[in-house]
Amino acid sequence: MPGQPENRVQQVLRPHAEDAFAGELAALAAADDRPRPARWRLSPWAVATYLLGGTLPDGTVITPKYVGPRRVVEVAVTTLATDRALLLLGVPGTAKTWVSEHLAAAVSGDSTLLVQGTAGTAEEAVRYGWDYARLLAHGPSREALVPSPVMRAMEQGMTVRVEELTRIPADVQDSLITILSEKTLPVPELGEEVQAVRGFNLVATANDRDRGVNDLSSALRRRFNTVVLPLPATADDEVDIVARRVDQLGRSLDLPAAPDGIDEIRRVVTVFRELRAGVTADGRTKLKSPSGTLSTAEAISVVTGGLALAAHFGDGVLRAGDVAAGVLGAVVRDPAADRVVWQEYLETVVREREDWQDFYRACREAAA
Ligand SMILES: Nc1ncnc2c1ncn2[C@@H]1O[C@H](COP(=O)(O)OP(=O)(O)OP(=O)(O)O)[C@@H](O)[C@H]1O
Ligand SMILES: [Mg+2]
Repeated sequence: MPGQPENRVQQVLRPHAEDAFAGELAALAAADDRPRPARWRLSPWAVATYLLGGTLPDGTVITPKYVGPRRVVEVAVTTLATDRALLLLGVPGTAKTWVSEHLAAAVSGDSTLLVQGTAGTAEEAVRYGWDYARLLAHGPSREALVPSPVMRAMEQGMTVRVEELTRIPADVQDSLITILSEKTLPVPELGEEVQAVRGFNLVATANDRDRGVNDLSSALRRRFNTVVLPLPATADDEVDIVARRVDQLGRSLDLPAAPDGIDEIRRVVTVFRELRAGVTADGRTKLKSPSGTLSTAEAISVVTGGLALAAHFGDGVLRAGDVAAGVLGAVVRDPAADRVVWQEYLETVVREREDWQDFYRACREAAA
């Protein structure tokens, strides 16, 4: 049926990057005349353009996916073209997962080869498992083997993603060492090995806050190039990121666009940045920081929640009252200590700002 794939993409709650941005990826592939590493869908230059945005010679606009230093993206993309794996490191909500998904989509055209790291991730998820019915009936054979996403990526020369690498138990992590240094995965039961073909590489993400949970062994760390994703450098950058993502999310939730919402977004971002930094934007007043991370990702969800409130129970215009409860929820994670921090911020900073009186009232109501 004509048009069916698009309909399906529209129906899926969260399409994969390669589906959501299929048009941009195709336009980039068509315009891209630079050399592509083996099995790459695009050249490193085009992958970086896909992530950072730009305009192609034929006028096609590539939307920025990642807002941040160009160099960070260039180093990340270049790493994938070498024999070293890529580790994206950063505090929560700095777009590590987001960047890794878009990298895999742009490089290999498929972001679904994914190992989700948890404390319970077993070796089968990194190497291979067995289909026990077949194993018992016919003994070990290639048919009875269930390849992990890593193994499939090695065979097909694709990018595989490992999320939250440092949550994976150390012994399971270490099974990656042979894969990354020898580029081979032995299958002793069959007396065979799977050798990675060109194009294979691995993108892992790890959270700064998990440091010490299952620290990477130094042997494994040496196999990675580490790229640290920073928090947005300026308030304007952060407002831009939030506005962009809220717009995209709002469209997928059928929320009306909120062109007047930008002031409210700026206010949420200002509150988050000031509390995170422990000082007001003008540098005059020192503040205590709450226990939560107040990440960009949380600002995005506060604003999206506010937009939904405005759409369903207000007149569609995002106002202070729609975001106050969300801001309070994000700041006050620990009901005792964080509440004190918030009260102090509210009374010494918010209250004193002339054009913030609506927000001050809304926050007091939300806390009551
Ligand atoms: N610099 C940025 N540019 C574009 N989007 C960003 C940026 N920072 C954060 N985001 C947005 O924040 C959201 C959350 O990002 P993501 O889930 O990738 O964070 P994370 O670093 O993986 O966090 P965690 O450590 O909690 O897993 C995404 O929707 C992403 O679009
Ligand atoms: Mg993540």
